[in-house]
Amino acid sequence: MQKSYTDAHRYSIENPEGFWKEQADEIHWFKKPSIIKGKDPLKNEWFVDGKLNLSYLCIDKHIEDGFGSQTAIVYDSPVTDTRREISYNELHDEVSRLAGGLLSLGIKKGDTVIVYMPMIPQAVYAMLACARIGAIHSVVFGGFAPHELAIRINDCKPKAIICASNGIEIDKVIPYKEFVDKAIDVAEHKPSNVVIFDRGDVYYSRSDRDIDYRELVEKSQAAEVVPVEGNHPSYILYTSGTTGTPKGIIRDTGGYATALKFSMTNIYAVEPGECFWAASDVGWVVGHSYIVYAPLINRSTTIVFEGKPIKTPDASTFWRIIEENKVKTMFTAPTAIRAIRKEDPKGEFIQKYDLSHFKYFFLAGERCDAATLHWLKAQLGIPVIDHWWQTESGWPMLANMAGLELFDVKPGSASFPVCGYDIQILNAEGEALGANEEGYVAVKLPLPPGNLVSLWQNPTRYQKGYLERFPGYYFSGDGGYKDEDGYFFITGRVDDVINVAGHRLSTAEMEEIVAKHPAIAECAVVGIHSDLKGQEPLGLIVLQSNVTESAEEISKAIINEVRKEIGPVASFKKVVHVQRLPKTRSGKTLRKLLRQIADSDQYNIPSTIDNIDVIGEIEMTFEENKVGRFKS
Ligand code: COA
Ligand code: AMP
Repeated sequence: MQKSYTDAHRYSIENPEGFWKEQADEIHWFKKPSIIKGKDPLKNEWFVDGKLNLSYLCIDKHIEDGFGSQTAIVYDSPVTDTRREISYNELHDEVSRLAGGLLSLGIKKGDTVIVYMPMIPQAVYAMLACARIGAIHSVVFGGFAPHELAIRINDCKPKAIICASNGIEIDKVIPYKEFVDKAIDVAEHKPSNVVIFDRGDVYYSRSDRDIDYRELVEKSQAAEVVPVEGNHPSYILYTSGTTGTPKGIIRDTGGYATALKFSMTNIYAVEPGECFWAASDVGWVVGHSYIVYAPLINRSTTIVFEGKPIKTPDASTFWRIIEENKVKTMFTAPTAIRAIRKEDPKGEFIQKYDLSHFKYFFLAGERCDAATLHWLKAQLGIPVIDHWWQTESGWPMLANMAGLELFDVKPGSASFPVCGYDIQILNAEGEALGANEEGYVAVKLPLPPGNLVSLWQNPTRYQKGYLERFPGYYFSGDGGYKDEDGYFFITGRVDDVINVAGHRLSTAEMEEIVAKHPAIAECAVVGIHSDLKGQEPLGLIVLQSNVTESAEEISKAIINEVRKEIGPVASFKKVVHVQRLPKTRSGKTLRKLLRQIADSDQYNIPSTIDNIDVIGEIEMTFEENKVGRFKS
């Protein structure tokens, strides 16, 4: 491995096959791949003829190497007042028997299984049990409502769903099993079985398809590892796109394992045996890659945290966990830090803990404002590193690669392209832009290993959505620029995707739900600035002329409907009634202008606007309703 970032990055771009062959040698293969990069430039296929198994890499390999008694997982759950350490040996026992249980239900290599669970170790066991037998898991985040779960059931047609009876949020119990039943009721596809881990906090009804998780594990034999091909799908993870239908990102096995192993030491500077913590949820890509697969492949200790940065019980929780587990590197979304800072602006909690083992703090998932970065750096005195990636990439695309060569941090910048990524800023015509010119952020093909292979059941959407906008490039959907020193700055999405508390959501999907209300003539949903969550959705509604209900009643009904259809995670809490929406001459709603009016003091009125006089009306309505910058 080259010592300097510049050399390593150059080598990875000039000779991707050579670079990634060396990295693939860092993991165990049952059959070493002879094909490194698949030949089709549009398919991100790596190591297709190799044979390996993710569950083996995460568990068995370490036991064979003599590390069975090392702690693999720390389960820290302030909401249930529990802390438990799970060794690699125990993980093996749990996972292999659950895998045996899945086999007994007729689940085999290539079948799909949905996992709908809170942050408990059983969620990780479920993922690894699927991987052990070559089944493809699809984890659905608990904050999504039954309707969203049903969409995913219909799309990936799982043979079984593994769920918990319930989750525990700060002030409420979430009835996961009840949501699963509701989702199956409305879904066209009916899974054969639902395996329930009963936490004892809620009553739930049982039917013939239901199976008790503990009974299944107790009566099942440990399953052997099933070696799979390098390009075998390990999982499908749904993410928001620009339409109402979520996209099922397909991840491979060989490329993913290789990239994750590389990232642990070279980006996050974490060695085997050290503790790494990603404070996220297994329902998101961060959870897949950096709570489960990467730390375990790396033989690090990972933390399954069932709590929040604040209120469980207070803003000291992160620092307690870092001290107790000697966390070396942690990773979370800036929202979590904003929440902590609000509760503990002077960092008084931080001073109470011994954080001497703590070396790096990584942030991602949304834009990181400079104030949050400066505050955190001042409190901790260690590098605070903003880095950029997406569900599609599966691992970082821009970062300050701390394990390879740490550069000065520039606030607002996610630093440099990670090895394997040739990142370019393009103009609308696909031409590379110069320093400080803002454009579209794209990655020159080939994408490195670990990136999405395609979209589940929808290769056309994959081609159209990512590869056709700029031929020869993968288009990220983000805008940004590069400065004169080569630091990249991500300025935000250029489509209808928003990031609320680090959660990726589609305003188009919300609009579809709002538009269904019979009183609505027209509507728009835009993401506006939020001090805590980065962005929050704002609905604008124009009512039909003959409506008898009040705008308040309609707004309330719409807010409830979005919560019911998408879930509480949408944080859709504000709707304003306007007389008209700004439009172009061709009738397109000017959503960006609406966002700019809400957020900033200055904005450019597009020359294509048809009804310029509507702007004053909108400003007045925002002022009356205390929207965005008109709040105070
Ligand atoms: N299961 C069920 N419901 C969930 C949930 C889950 N796993 N996660 C969140 N929700 C619910 C919340 O209870 C809340 O419901 P409410 O409207 O009834 O109050 C709603 O979804 C919105 O949640 P959230 O946006 O997280 O807001 P919050 O006010 O509950 O918490 C923070 C605010 C800052 C503490 C929280 O957003 C946070 O910890 N953010 C960290 C970001 C993060 O981990 N991002 C992951 C990507 S790296
Ligand atoms: P997700 O797929 O949920 O991980 O969301 C990915 C999107 O979050 C990206 O396309 C960006 O818009 C945004 N994002 C992630 N990390 C950053 C970052 N460090 N800076 C700015 N935006 C980010």
